[in-house]
Amino acid sequence: MHSLGIAVVAIFALQETACTLTASGGDDGPAFITAAQTCDTVVVPADTTLSIASPMNMTDVVNTHISLEGTIKFVDDIDFWAGTAFFFDFQNSTTFWILSGENILFDGGGTIDGSGQAWYDAFASNSSLVRPIILTIYEATNVTVQDITELNSPDWFNLVHTSQNIVYDGLTIEAVSTSSVEAKNTDGWDIYRSDSVSILNSNINNGDDCVSWKPNSTNMIVANLVCNGSHGISVGSLGQYPQFFDIVENVTATNVTMSNAQNGARIKAWAGAGVGGGIVKNITFELFFETNVDNPIIIDQCYMTDEDECAANPSNTFIQDVWFNNITGTSSGAEDSTVASLSCSPDSRCSDINVNDISLAPPSSEGDATYTCQNDNVTGNAASLFGNCTTT
Ligand SMILES: *[C@@H]1O[C@H](CO)[C@@H](O)[C@H](O)[C@H]1NC(C)=O
Ligand SMILES: *[C@@H]1O[C@H](CO)[C@@H](O)[C@H](O)[C@H]1NC(C)=O
Ligand SMILES: *[C@@H]1O[C@H](CO)[C@@H](O)[C@H](O)[C@H]1NC(C)=O
Ligand SMILES: *[C@@H]1O[C@H](CO)[C@@H](O)[C@H](O)[C@H]1NC(C)=O
Ligand SMILES: *[C@@H]1O[C@H](CO)[C@@H](O)[C@H](O)[C@H]1NC(C)=O
Ligand SMILES: *[C@@H]1O[C@H](CO)[C@@H](O)[C@H](O)[C@H]1NC(C)=O
Ligand SMILES: *[C@@H]1O[C@H](CO)[C@@H](O)[C@H](O)[C@H]1NC(C)=O
Ligand SMILES: *[C@@H]1O[C@H](CO)[C@@H](O)[C@H](O)[C@H]1NC(C)=O
Ligand SMILES: *[C@@H]1O[C@H](CO)[C@@H](O)[C@H](O)[C@H]1NC(C)=O
Ligand SMILES: *[C@@H]1O[C@H](CO)[C@@H](O)[C@H](O)[C@H]1NC(C)=O
Ligand SMILES: *[C@@H]1O[C@H](CO)[C@@H](O)[C@H](O)[C@H]1NC(C)=O
Repeated sequence: MHSLGIAVVAIFALQETACTLTASGGDDGPAFITAAQTCDTVVVPADTTLSIASPMNMTDVVNTHISLEGTIKFVDDIDFWAGTAFFFDFQNSTTFWILSGENILFDGGGTIDGSGQAWYDAFASNSSLVRPIILTIYEATNVTVQDITELNSPDWFNLVHTSQNIVYDGLTIEAVSTSSVEAKNTDGWDIYRSDSVSILNSNINNGDDCVSWKPNSTNMIVANLVCNGSHGISVGSLGQYPQFFDIVENVTATNVTMSNAQNGARIKAWAGAGVGGGIVKNITFELFFETNVDNPIIIDQCYMTDEDECAANPSNTFIQDVWFNNITGTSSGAEDSTVASLSCSPDSRCSDINVNDISLAPPSSEGDATYTCQNDNVTGNAASLFGNCTTT
């Protein structure tokens, strides 16, 4: 149920519809979809919590401003969602909410609540439980998501799939389990088959990748993020599926504070018999401030592949023109004294790997920092740290 108001656009005196949503006491999903498809502005007021109890296929949203000042909360009826959430072939993922269309501004300072706790607890005893992503931007152009808090997604928070010109600015993401089990797989963002996606000025506290660029992510920017507890900022994994060629090109991640994480700046690609292939090109990680990170800098081009198999069947995902610039801080000691590892497949699968202004320390109990690399040709003013590599 929604009420209509009228506003006037000055120059052409067009009538613009503004719709204010109220909580119905039942499933507010259908009214929210209708409003987004028919009103110019959709407001969820600050004192309102919309309860969503059916999947939202919010397509054909054009020239629309969604102002979420209150809360959108997905009910935690796991058995219901297991059969109804929308499915994507890509990593067998499912989602509560598809947002699709063009020229959409989604802002307002409000909250999307995924009610994740029930899912975290259920997943701990059923690892085949398929958990939905809270928000998927799909087949969309020109979408800005700004000043929104996302809480406790059952799975990834944001998937961008087959879209272009997407901006996230000023998000707060929190996945915190209140029981003894972890909030697993709660990636901040995963990007797939999309171009020009920027993720800016955001604060993320989660239990998996902070940002992950999956196959066919081009012209990507990450800037000014604070990530805690995550698996890092990752390119990949790539080159897993033989039927696809995977491209990640033109990526910059700058000014990232990374704490208590598994990885800092990471690139990972599969090797071994029967895997796929691809190209990773023009990737810059710069200005990373890291604290207590297992692998502050890591390229792993033998991902999930043992050394002999990787030597026999090197990765078909070529990695070139990569910069790690101005990366400072501490590792956790999980990899002993190793603070950076640039591990490429044999046969020149990596080229033009640059390292500049790197200063990383393991915990003092581990002694001096160790920088390792394999099968690559590292250049830049920090190349000498990687003394065991070919340097030019
Ligand atoms: C969503 O709606 C669009 C347009 O009506 C339709 O083409 C598409 O199949 C729907 N998607 C799902 C997952 O139901
Ligand atoms: C998706 O699920 C199917 C059926 O369970 C399985 O065969 C396939 O390996 C899964 N794909 C991925 C990418 O996990
Ligand atoms: C685990 O979750 C799957 C997928 O939702 C479901 O089919 C299966 O029945 C669940 N298993 C148990 C033991 O609950
Ligand atoms: C997206 O925005 C750009 C720049 O504002 C504009 O030129 C373009 O027409 C928009 N595309 C769509 C599909 O609305
Ligand atoms: C880096 O990001 C922080 C937020 O984490 C921000 O306060 C600071 O202004 C940014 N620095 C630059 C140079 O943009
Ligand atoms: C940061 O992450 C660590 C590890 O997951 C967690 O113990 C800690 O509570 C988090 N800090 C904040 C401020 O949420
Ligand atoms: C990526 O784009 C290339 C070139 O358009 C295409 O051949 C390939 O199938 C795409 N890969 C995926 C995973 O969509
Ligand atoms: C590399 O990518 C950045 C964006 O991350 C872009 O600004 C720059 O033009 C690209 N450089 C080349 C040579 O493609
Ligand atoms: C990467 O950036 C360069 C320079 O801007 C551009 O020429 C090239 O087309 C971009 N690559 C892709 C895949 O968009
Ligand atoms: C690295 O970043 C710090 C902090 O912004 C800055 O003071 C320093 O000049 C940078 N170093 C280089 C070599 O760019
Ligand atoms: C690097 O060091 C390891 C361990 O000491 C050694 O096995 C390997 O041959 C060295 N690699 C190069 C390229 O020197």
